[in-house]
Amino acid sequence: MANTNKKNSGNIKGKRERYSNKQNQNKSKNKNNKRNYDVKAQRMESKRIRRERKPVEDNSKSENSQYIQWFPGHMTKTKRKIQSDLKLVDAVAEIIDARIPVSSRNPDLTELIGNKPRVILMNKCDLADPSSTKKWKEYFKSCGIRAIELDCKSGVGINNFVSATKDVLSDKIAVWQSKGMVNRSLRVMIVGIPNVGKSTFINRISKTSKAKTEDRPGVTRGNQWFTLSSGGVNIDLLDTPGVLWPRFDDRVTGEMLAFTGAVKDDVTDSEMLALRLIEYFKESPPKIFCERFDLTPENISSMPPLEILESVAKKRGMLISGGEPDTLRASVMLLDEFRSAKLGRLTLELP
Ligand code: G4P
Repeated sequence: MANTNKKNSGNIKGKRERYSNKQNQNKSKNKNNKRNYDVKAQRMESKRIRRERKPVEDNSKSENSQYIQWFPGHMTKTKRKIQSDLKLVDAVAEIIDARIPVSSRNPDLTELIGNKPRVILMNKCDLADPSSTKKWKEYFKSCGIRAIELDCKSGVGINNFVSATKDVLSDKIAVWQSKGMVNRSLRVMIVGIPNVGKSTFINRISKTSKAKTEDRPGVTRGNQWFTLSSGGVNIDLLDTPGVLWPRFDDRVTGEMLAFTGAVKDDVTDSEMLALRLIEYFKESPPKIFCERFDLTPENISSMPPLEILESVAKKRGMLISGGEPDTLRASVMLLDEFRSAKLGRLTLELP
């Protein structure tokens, strides 16, 4: 707390200047781009990634040529493993975060799984805006992909998983039946970037269906299978073979993952992140955010983000010596309230 106060008291003015300079730079760089990327947070993120990952420049991304696309060394291994294990399954269940359906998907997966039937599990629907989730479902449907809504924490929607899997495999099931294979299990690989809720999904579905864990010898050696039976259907779930990292194509992806907490807070700057979140709110001010902090949509669209953050701090009585608003504490609180849906069920990416 002492450090926090010291940091804040010494830096409020400088911070305001830095932020407004950054704003001006961003404005001139990206006049028509509402997503003015947070240079500082991204730089910190890049540093961490650079430590952990082997850089590969993707020259095909001319639009984002200033960004380097980082692939972790072990990502190649995971991709190879997914590719080889695809032979063992009939379908793929891709778990995504319903609040950020773009940034929580690794776009390479589509290429990897090719024509294999797929179900998208839009998890954390309890935190996402229901009407946006509906739009996403329709969007996926228009792309010929079956998507279901899930809240693995409470179990809402979990029962739709089996029927959705049966649906996407209906042609295969018909062929098996014509060959007399009536009780064949449906084999499904679970994939998703970290933090989307894969473990929670497996735990939840194991509770609602009769499930047992198996480490099958031979061809599936080392793979974790969960066998479950529900409504007369047997499903063999194969847990993700390795870590499927998100792809940081641009700064927005990193930012979205940081907003939702998928990127650890210790590698991001909470204040800059909170200010960026407030900027997103400017596009369509969330009602609960306005109510909680006595702000109006007009205030939000006219006030600079730092001023909004300061007013949030004041509203919560978060002050440091000298009566200055404690913007660092307010930032941490704001991010926390966003992540736990206290600011309402919000979806940050629309189809
Ligand atoms: P992963 O295996 O894909 O890495 O994700 P994991 O299941 O570990 O879930 C990551 C976090 O997301 C966990 O929170 C988990 O509780 C939460 N979560 C998963 N599914 C849902 C959901 O449908 N709704 C909500 N609201 N949260 C969900 P955590 O804070 O890391 O752990 P915990 O304190 O909840 O145990």
